[in-house]
Amino acid sequence: MEFCQKSGNVRRRGLFYFLLVFLLINEVSLQESVEGFIGGSAVLPCSSEKHQLKLEDISVLWRRNSLSVYDIIEGKDSVKAQDPAYKNRTETFPEEYLNGNFSLKLNDLQHNDAGKYKCFITQDSVIKSVQLFIKERQKMHSTNEGSNQKPETIVMIISTLCIGIIF
Ligand SMILES: *[C@@H]1O[C@H](CO)[C@@H](O)[C@H](O)[C@H]1NC(C)=O
Ligand SMILES: *[C@@H]1O[C@H](CO)[C@@H](O)[C@H](O)[C@H]1NC(C)=O
Repeated sequence: MEFCQKSGNVRRRGLFYFLLVFLLINEVSLQESVEGFIGGSAVLPCSSEKHQLKLEDISVLWRRNSLSVYDIIEGKDSVKAQDPAYKNRTETFPEEYLNGNFSLKLNDLQHNDAGKYKCFITQDSVIKSVQLFIKERQKMHSTNEGSNQKPETIVMIISTLCIGIIF
């Protein structure tokens, strides 16, 4: 009896930790994030579930802190209000507009491009945000080394578990 109660407690505790980890992972994955390298380019995703039939009905505003990054006004690209920092560095995919894809490509990435971008789809009244992370090319090497170390960590965890079971 006592043993059953104990294992029930363990199971309940296991379930609790499982839920906790599950919630934490979900929380993190809610925000879209994109990585880019200095001098490279990145595509910031923004898409609508609703598909428009007419280009004239499509207006999308890309913003970063209230500064204009790119505007699509009634199906036409507009850089009139664009902040000079983004001049000649932005591209969209007009052939994708009717599919509800308003992703923005940002070229020649710099350190200070890192941050949060918002895509406001006016006809849906939907705002999508994307976090852009900028890395230096050299750092890519060190993350590769980091992933090489992972198997060792796994082996260590497995050995710890085995020792736990034996004793
Ligand atoms: C943008 O491109 C145009 C034409 O290629 C060029 O004349 C202009 O100097 C460029 N502006 C910037 C800020 O790079
Ligand atoms: C939107 O279009 C871009 C460019 O073609 C593509 O890279 C991206 O995967 C598309 N996104 C979706 C959700 O289809």
